[in-house]
Amino acid sequence: MDKNSKEWLKSKLKEIKSFTKYVKPESVLDVALEAGIESEKVIKLNQNENLFLSKDFLCFLLNDVINEIDLRLYSKEGEAELKKAIGKYVGLPSDYVILGNGSDQIIDLIIRTFLGKDSVAISIKPTYSMYKWSVNHLGVKYFEIPLREDFSLNVEGILESSKGNKGICLICSPNNPTGNQFELEDVKAIIEGFHGLVLVDEAYVEFAKNSLAKLVKKYENLIITRTFSKAFGLAGVRIGYALSNSEISTAIFEYAQLPYSLNCIGLKLALKVLGMFDRFKKSIDELKEEREKLMKRLNSIKGVRAFKSDANFILFQVKKPYEKVFNDLFDKGILVRKIGKVLNLEDCLRVTVGLPYMNDRLIEALTSISE
Ligand SMILES: Cc1ncc(COP(=O)(O)O)c(C=O)c1O
Repeated sequence: MDKNSKEWLKSKLKEIKSFTKYVKPESVLDVALEAGIESEKVIKLNQNENLFLSKDFLCFLLNDVINEIDLRLYSKEGEAELKKAIGKYVGLPSDYVILGNGSDQIIDLIIRTFLGKDSVAISIKPTYSMYKWSVNHLGVKYFEIPLREDFSLNVEGILESSKGNKGICLICSPNNPTGNQFELEDVKAIIEGFHGLVLVDEAYVEFAKNSLAKLVKKYENLIITRTFSKAFGLAGVRIGYALSNSEISTAIFEYAQLPYSLNCIGLKLALKVLGMFDRFKKSIDELKEEREKLMKRLNSIKGVRAFKSDANFILFQVKKPYEKVFNDLFDKGILVRKIGKVLNLEDCLRVTVGLPYMNDRLIEALTSISE
């Protein structure tokens, strides 16, 4: 490479390194190696995966799928079939659906497609970190409006900061990491008053009370994103989708998205799970029941305060420094997520609702650490 090209590459790498870095959370292997605990004994509760669906059951579905696919072919029909099935599941026409390789990819695509130097992104604080990550890559301004003390939306604050700006408002509901689903009327007020698109991330909606999906028919500036990673237990397969009026979804699908961004295995698996929703609904209900039990048990530990959740995880505050509690749990083979300060609440952690035996271990460990 000549000197000029070398300089160019060097400056590009410097620019890339100025972007927000995404640090992946600790893995089972990290615990196994650092805490010296066998991998099978590690309790992984740090990424809101759905452990209520057994690995064997999902592998059984995968086996079925393997007989239905042809790996040699691009899967145009597979995409159309899945859009139709999702449309039926959410009660919308199939041309309102955009598929993505996980909802992160769809959110990133929407941000990259609609935002530019002339626009801004507005979101809430605290919320899902990937919005800031995607916006930061574009060099676009990102405003964070803190939630109110009770974790509700500061509608006036959001609308005020949107004055004189155009762009995207990103609302995560149920919100990660606080866990609460926002009031329908508050979200509607934002959709009606915001100068631009409103993206509502409903990754956890199946664990909550209601969805805004049907409102995309009413509001031309509303986009909803959803995923198969949580309620359907397919985080490793990477299938997400967005719902919006057909003008937006067709424009994204035909002009902005890479063709064939989903693989044929994921397409068929998602189709299969939607076809047996009752089976999945049962495990969602089990999870919700366990969530309420876990909430009560966390709150019964001295020095722990857990917050109500509409998702498959719970935010909780500890009296001791959160990093110490995290490390002590880690040493006992339990992985939770470090959160830190949430509004004016110091020392918060987040935990996925695990299977009863996992939650037993968490409660036992947390009781001995916190009291
Ligand atoms: C709020 C929220 N949105 C989106 C995602 C991404 O999910 P996916 O696996 O569909 O990319 C997550 C993952 O944890 C999330 O918490």
